[in-house]
Amino acid sequence: MHRCLAISIVVAAACLSGAHAAISVGLTRTQNGSLKNVAKADQARRALLSRANSEGATSLPIAQLGYAAYTASIGIGNPPTYYNLLVDSGSSNTWIGGNKPYVKTSTSVPTGEAVNVSNAGGAFVGSEYYDEVALAPGLIIRNQSIADATGAMAPPGVDGIIGFGPVNLTLQTFENNPMQTIPTVMNNAYAQKIIPEQVLGVYFAPATSNYSMNGQLTFGGVDESLCVGPIHWTPVTTTKFADLYWGVNISASYGRKTLIPATHSGIIDTSSTLTGVLDAWYETYIKAIPGSFFDANVTGLTAIPESSVKHMHMIAIFVEGQPLLWDVEAQLAPKSLATELGGESGFRYSYIVPIGTAFLPGIDFILGMSFIERFYTVSPCFDLMPRSDVEPFWL
Ligand SMILES: *[C@@H]1O[C@H](CO)[C@@H](O)[C@H](O)[C@H]1NC(C)=O
Ligand SMILES: *[C@@H]1O[C@H](CO)[C@@H](O)[C@H](O)[C@H]1NC(C)=O
Ligand SMILES: *[C@@H]1O[C@H](CO)[C@@H](O)[C@H](O)[C@H]1NC(C)=O
Ligand SMILES: *[C@@H]1O[C@H](CO)[C@@H](O)[C@H](O)[C@H]1NC(C)=O
Ligand SMILES: *[C@@H]1O[C@H](CO)[C@@H](O)[C@H](O)[C@H]1NC(C)=O
Ligand SMILES: *[C@@H]1O[C@H](CO)[C@@H](O)[C@H](O)[C@H]1NC(C)=O
Ligand SMILES: *[C@@H]1O[C@H](CO)[C@@H](O)[C@H](O)[C@H]1NC(C)=O
Repeated sequence: MHRCLAISIVVAAACLSGAHAAISVGLTRTQNGSLKNVAKADQARRALLSRANSEGATSLPIAQLGYAAYTASIGIGNPPTYYNLLVDSGSSNTWIGGNKPYVKTSTSVPTGEAVNVSNAGGAFVGSEYYDEVALAPGLIIRNQSIADATGAMAPPGVDGIIGFGPVNLTLQTFENNPMQTIPTVMNNAYAQKIIPEQVLGVYFAPATSNYSMNGQLTFGGVDESLCVGPIHWTPVTTTKFADLYWGVNISASYGRKTLIPATHSGIIDTSSTLTGVLDAWYETYIKAIPGSFFDANVTGLTAIPESSVKHMHMIAIFVEGQPLLWDVEAQLAPKSLATELGGESGFRYSYIVPIGTAFLPGIDFILGMSFIERFYTVSPCFDLMPRSDVEPFWL
């Protein structure tokens, strides 16, 4: 079993009561030789993250997100067709049609609404449907609003996205009704009593090779067998714009140096590969590691001479003052991945990268897959909807 700590983001401590009925599904890490796009894809994604809040930013097609990602196999329709959907905490629409066309069945009901989305989950146009969404065989959300994306391309192995962000990230989906939100998969799974709480446990297995690493998503709770040590709790940040996402306030140190001063807000993002911090903080990191530099042109990672690795320190991430220790080896891409990325021999490559002098107000860092692969991450119980006592709707 992997060493694994837990960070939980909750708005209320009651969030996890009754997690006994949680449902777990497997995740697959897709790479298929597309690792060379990691840094570019993260840059594209950052542009899309900021697109949510700043006018005039360029929208980028999902094709540019061709990189290491985690997908879950999710069934849609009845009988269900299974799609590999990218697990995205930075967007909230669920859509299919990327590589595999939407196979419509008698449960697929068009809403008549045209969709035009451009956010962290990608940019696509299409039409909205209600349909059944099977999280696992027999565990079916009914009347889930999904998009059939006709104008989207997706990286190999990815058929669309399942969005786990807060429901407000679905604002502006419909051009003629931009203030309408769309209940997310978590909203509906909770409202239909499929899960006891709107909580998502995310376990990403550390990459040790090129492709096909497994992780696990737990709908409605935490799989404590995947956690070592206590769960560290922190509320969702109230700092704009991190509050739109899985936003947290943390501080961090590298050895004895301050990496992130107490405290700053940023986000945890399942679909960013790397972990980015503001340039000034990044300078602290590379200045403390002799010979290291940001290899912007080739790998997009931080190049570290092998001779410096033995002098590196742990990063401690403080969540409500409690440290999560990110050891040296975990900061570094495995050697085989570094080779795949085009790295030079004699160097190791760190996942810690700079994101600019001021990326987006309130988002001073992005903890991506490289963080989640070390720390079991539990999502916020966002948008708690009162659970109605009526029977779930059956289409
Ligand atoms: C990684 O996978 C690609 C194909 O997807 C293969 O060509 C390459 O040799 C693999 N690299 C390593 C280090 O295993
Ligand atoms: C989608 O919206 C963007 C602006 O957000 C616009 O440029 C584009 O033309 C729209 N596409 C369609 C098909 O309506
Ligand atoms: C299906 O869900 C939508 C919200 O997404 C809601 O407006 C509609 O009333 C629901 N339909 C039924 C029959 O429950
Ligand atoms: C990715 O690679 C895996 C392992 O080789 C393979 O099973 C899978 O079909 C590939 N997917 C795509 C879309 O190429
Ligand atoms: C969601 O957006 C609406 C409309 O802008 C706003 O009134 C509401 O406060 C937002 N909710 C949250 C939880 O941010
Ligand atoms: C969170 O960080 C932001 C700066 O990013 C700061 O302004 C805010 O006061 C912090 N919030 C808390 C509760 O410490
Ligand atoms: C990166 O590429 C640019 C343009 O080709 C070049 O000017 C720069 O020196 C390169 N940087 C490094 C660190 O190699």
